[in-house]
Amino acid sequence: MRVGVLASGRGSNLQALIDAQAGGHLGPARLVCVLSNILDAPALERARRADLAAEFLDPRGLTREGYDAVIRDRLAHHRVELLCLAGYMRRLSGWFIDAFPGTILNVHPSLLPAFPGLHAQQQALDYGVAVTGATVHLVDIGLDSGPVVAQEAVSVLPDDSLATLSQRILAAEHRLYPSVVRAIAEGGHVVQGRRVSLRYS
Ligand code: GRF
Repeated sequence: MRVGVLASGRGSNLQALIDAQAGGHLGPARLVCVLSNILDAPALERARRADLAAEFLDPRGLTREGYDAVIRDRLAHHRVELLCLAGYMRRLSGWFIDAFPGTILNVHPSLLPAFPGLHAQQQALDYGVAVTGATVHLVDIGLDSGPVVAQEAVSVLPDDSLATLSQRILAAEHRLYPSVVRAIAEGGHVVQGRRVSLRYS
């Protein structure tokens, strides 16, 4: 299964996928390209170091729809079958999401539907929850609102700072995302309404 990644930033989740592949832990999934809207995104450098196609796609002067058409063309060029968002900081257009039903994944640093959007770790601290975590979900038109594929819980400790909590959630993301990609590539997944089941082969 050919996997593409959209990333805008540091790319640690991308790195987790790269490392999983290098270690033989991604099953039949194969990373084929990393696309970014940010010229100097560290994610692109990580991709180049891993010998993946790494492409900066300049959004300047394009509408959201027009930019997503550029992405669609590059994904088609690389024959991508599963698309992973990994710190991709743009919303995708409705037509784009509809064009890839059930095949766009995102990772988010909370147990959705709690704390969608930015600063999810700070939101968890501010709210005072005892448990937060990481979620891999399918992307729909809403903000972090698509069906949940997998979650890992992370306890909030009494002396947690934003940095310590974020670090433990990130470690959970790095375990969860490759394991979901592997499971989908190996056995597929079934989406029934909001419920997603992984079919382990
Ligand atoms: C992660 O916390 C992810 O959950 C969120 O954006 C962050 C990206 O980090 N969507 P990285 O670029 O993968 O290091």
